[in-house]
Amino acid sequence: MKNIVLIGFMGTGKTSTGKILATKLGCAFMDLDQKIEAEHQMSIPEMFRQHGENFFRQCERQMVEKVSARRNTVISTGGGTVKDPENTKLLKSQGIMVCLTASVEAILERTGKRGKRPVLDGKDEGDRRKAIEDLLEERRSVYAQADCTVDTTDKSPLQVVDDIIRQLRVRGIVHA
Ligand code: S3P
Repeated sequence: MKNIVLIGFMGTGKTSTGKILATKLGCAFMDLDQKIEAEHQMSIPEMFRQHGENFFRQCERQMVEKVSARRNTVISTGGGTVKDPENTKLLKSQGIMVCLTASVEAILERTGKRGKRPVLDGKDEGDRRKAIEDLLEERRSVYAQADCTVDTTDKSPLQVVDDIIRQLRVRGIVHA
């Protein structure tokens, strides 16, 4: 089976959905951010603080190179992974890309916990909403490169997984 690559904005549930999807399909699961954190023995917010975003993006690229060589794997990316066209190319070469989306309201609620999302942290409520709206607009065209899209607003992770599997069946990627 081709890899199934989950892309989308922060707070759209790529990690939680990816884990359940992999279990349901009986294949491996890899989360890019978790792999980067394990390899560097450092959380991503800490990496941003100590080394800056450019360093993180270099680590992200190296990890994309490693995981995109795999097969039969559900890969959850970070919200900014596909900003880099080379990452998109690598991930697409062995995989089908599924974009998860959510309303600004849902993203705001799901990413409310401070200290986890360095791209959004340091902004108060109003600024945070504006930052989300601006980033969503900026990234609209990169998320549109996905092969299919699933809206996760008001859905449980299990419902999202069922929606993804339905879309993959239509495309002949899974037969279960
Ligand atoms: C980022 C999203 C994060 C993480 C990093 C940068 C982004 O991943 O990769 O903080 O630029 O959108 P999640 O989408 O899993 O939060």
